[in-house]
Amino acid sequence: MNKVAIIASGSGSNAQKIMEYFSDNVEVEVSIVLTNNPEAFVIQRADNFEIPTMVFDKKDLYDSDIVLNQLLKLNINLIVLAGFLWLIPENIIEAFPNKIINIHPALLPKYGGKGMHGLNVHKAVREAQETETGITIHYVNKDYDEGDIIHQVKCKIDQQDSPEIIAYKVRKLEHQYFPKTIEKLLF
Ligand code: GRF
Repeated sequence: MNKVAIIASGSGSNAQKIMEYFSDNVEVEVSIVLTNNPEAFVIQRADNFEIPTMVFDKKDLYDSDIVLNQLLKLNINLIVLAGFLWLIPENIIEAFPNKIINIHPALLPKYGGKGMHGLNVHKAVREAQETETGITIHYVNKDYDEGDIIHQVKCKIDQQDSPEIIAYKVRKLEHQYFPKTIEKLLF
């Protein structure tokens, strides 16, 4: 059995697609959804799939092995960050080498780094008058935003596209490609 843990901070629309994609796969299990945000809608989404959830705070993540031990106890094969806004600490990175991946809503190395999340990314892309953008699925290592790129997919930006429209196009790509890429990494 391939066991996946999802870590998310917000709505969890990507988490939803991943849980749907693997829901009838007997070889893959989304074993747990972890979040730092007790109000995150991703908790509701996980409940709907009867997938266990765990809420942690800064101390649990950075000053203890609580989160790490939970991941080890479940024998997690792949940790998927899907809209997780905090950095992953070294104890977890060291215990899961090349087993932590993230999705970023732009074509890294452009438009990454601090503050580059949500609509900020798409506003920056718009302001730079880019003609294309896309998604980047990459490994998370101790250099954070600089982990090796696993997969990128591009989409065109039309001149009249607002940041919201760009966000819509990018999210569609995320939903389409993130679950498939996870599957490829597992087998
Ligand atoms: C996605 O755009 C992803 O690229 C970024 O955070 C967002 C999460 O969205 N890392 P959702 O919570 O999955 O809807």
